[in-house]
Amino acid sequence: NQSELRFPQGFLWGGATAANQCEGAWDIDGKGMTIQDCLEFRAGNISNMTKQFAFTSEDLNKAQSVNTINYPKRRGIDFYHHYKEDIALFAEMGFKVYRMSICWSRIFTDPEDETPNEKGIEFYVNVLKECKKYNIEPLVTLSHYDVPVALIKKYRGWYGRECVGLFVKYAKVCFEHFGPYVKYWLTFNEVDAMLRHPVTSGGLIEDQFEDVPFEQAMYQAMHHQMIASALAVKAGHELYPDAQIGCMMTKLCFYPYTCKPEDNLATQQRMRSIYRYVDIQVFGEYPIYLKKEISNKGYTVKFEENDEQILKEGIVDFVSFSYYMTSCWAADTNGLELSPGNTFNGVKNPYLPSSEWGWQTDASGLRYSLVELYDRFRKPLFIVENGLGARDTVSEDGHIHDPYRKAYLKEHVCAMSDAINLDGVDLMGYTWWGCIDLLSESTREMSKRYGFIYVDLDDYGSGTGKRIKKDSFDYYKQVIASNGTML
Ligand code: BG6
Repeated sequence: NQSELRFPQGFLWGGATAANQCEGAWDIDGKGMTIQDCLEFRAGNISNMTKQFAFTSEDLNKAQSVNTINYPKRRGIDFYHHYKEDIALFAEMGFKVYRMSICWSRIFTDPEDETPNEKGIEFYVNVLKECKKYNIEPLVTLSHYDVPVALIKKYRGWYGRECVGLFVKYAKVCFEHFGPYVKYWLTFNEVDAMLRHPVTSGGLIEDQFEDVPFEQAMYQAMHHQMIASALAVKAGHELYPDAQIGCMMTKLCFYPYTCKPEDNLATQQRMRSIYRYVDIQVFGEYPIYLKKEISNKGYTVKFEENDEQILKEGIVDFVSFSYYMTSCWAADTNGLELSPGNTFNGVKNPYLPSSEWGWQTDASGLRYSLVELYDRFRKPLFIVENGLGARDTVSEDGHIHDPYRKAYLKEHVCAMSDAINLDGVDLMGYTWWGCIDLLSESTREMSKRYGFIYVDLDDYGSGTGKRIKKDSFDYYKQVIASNGTML
C-alpha cells in the first residue's frame, strides 16, 4: 500500500539540534549554569532509563564545585565556535529549515536579571543571520531541557510559579530580538516529558519535596509550563501576527502486547499519559481525563484566577513531535522482556529490529503516528526529530559508511509520503535529529551518533573536533534536492 513518492511544494526538509547538546562554551560570554551542565557522564548505563535519570541535590551541589571532563554537555561539539562551518554544511545538504534551541541562561545569566545578556543575544543573532544567508528557515525551540540552575535553587524549578513570569520575560526578549529572522517557534521540547524525567524537563529534584508528594509537584510544575507556554504563544502572536508557534511532544507509540482487552486498555491509558499536555496546548483547556486523574490520586493543582483564560488564549498553530521508534505495552508487564527507548522502557516487540541502543525501529509506526495525531488534533504537523543513533566508525579509506542510516531515512520518508498522499495528513516538514553528531540526551555519550556529519570527538571529549561528511550526507542531499522523490 505504498504511494508514489510525493511531497508538497515548499516542504521543509532539514535537521535539528539543541543548544545543550551541541553548543559547549558553557561558562563563557555570560552564560549561566543549566541543569545540563550538572549531568555527569555515566558510562554503561544505556539500557536503564531510571538509573540514567537519577539525580539528587548532592549531585547538584557537587556539579557546582568541580569542573571535570565528566560533564560532557559543558563542551558539546563546540558549535558555539563552529557554527559558521556547521551551517555551511547544512546549506550544502540543501536544508530548507534548521531546528535549533536557544539557551535561556545565555539570554539571562540569571533569569531574575533585569537586563538580558548582550553577548548571548549577539551569538544567536549571528547564528540566525548565518542561516538566512543560505535561505535556511530557522525553527527555534525556546526551552529544550535546560532549566537554569538558579531557578532550581531558588524555586525548586518549575514547581515555583515564579518561573512563569521569568519565562515569559525571556520569551519576549527572544521574540523581540530574533523575531525578524524567525517565523517558526516551539515553546517547550517534549512537553509531556516531566513525568518521565522531571529533572531535565522541570528542574524538579525529588529529595527537595518532603513537604508535598513528588507526583503532585510534577503536576503543578506542568501546569506552570502550560501557562508559560500559552502566555509565550500569545506574546509572540502579538508581536508577529504571522509567526507560527507550535507545541512539541514525544510521539511515543505503544502497541498492545497481545489482543487481550486489558492490554489494549492499558495501552490506551499509556498513550493518554503522553497526549494530556498537548491536548491542553491544542484545545486550550485541561482534558476531563487529566482532571479526573489528578483528583482520583487525591492531588490538587493550584490554578490562579486567570489561568483558564490564559490557556484558551494561548492555543498553538501547529503540532510538532519527535518520533524514533515504537514498543508495546501490557496490563501486566511482569516477566515480559522490556526494551529501552526514548526516555522510557517499553515491552519489547518481537516483530521489530532494534538499534544498538535497543530502540526498536519502525517506519510504519511513523505513518500510524501521523494519522493518529492528525485525527486527534486536525492541525498541521511537523516532524522535528527522527533519526538513528549508531556507533559510526571512520574506515581505513577515511570515510564513514553508514548504510543503516540511509536505510532508516528511506523507510521513514516513504512512511511520510504515504501519510500525506494516502491518509491526507497535513505535514509541514521534517527535521532529522542530530543532523551533525552531538551529545546524546539520555546517555550523554558522543558514541551514539545521529549525524550526516561526523564530529571527531569521543565520549571523554578527546579528538580534533573535525567535521567529516558521512555517506548519508550526499544521500540526504539527494532526498532534499528531489523533494523526497529520489530515494
Ligand atoms: C529526544 C530529545 O528525546 O530524543 C533529544 O528531544 C534527544 O534531545 C533525542 O537527543 C534522542 O535521544 P538520545 O538519548 O539518543 O540523545
